Amino acid sequence: MAFDQYHEPPNELPQETRTFARMILSVIEEAQAIDWYEQRMSVENDDAAKAIMHNAQKEEFKHFAMDLEFLLRRKNEWREVMQRVLFTTGDIVEKGEKAEEAVD
Ligand SMILES: [Fe+2]
Repeated sequence: MAFDQYHEPPNELPQETRTFARMILSVIEEAQAIDWYEQRMSVENDDAAKAIMHNAQKEEFKHFAMDLEFLLRRKNEWREVMQRVLFTTGDIVEKGEKAEEAVD
């Protein structure tokens, strides 16, 4: 179904929320594409085919990043959590817990 991304009646949702829902679905689809290329490459024996898949997967990294950045620019608390967890070193769970506390 084309409109499954809505959990509430679409006609009751403001345009901003509908755009947010579309971008959430997009980021999910990009992550799924990254996963599918990863699986395809892991079983593909033809080097040329694998190279094309690898090139395509890199394209999906870009799409995922753009979608995610769009969403984070609209959700400051989400952005703050991400800033405290992503591109850090050390215990990931600990970073996540501290990030959650910081936005409470
Ligand atoms: Fe994509």
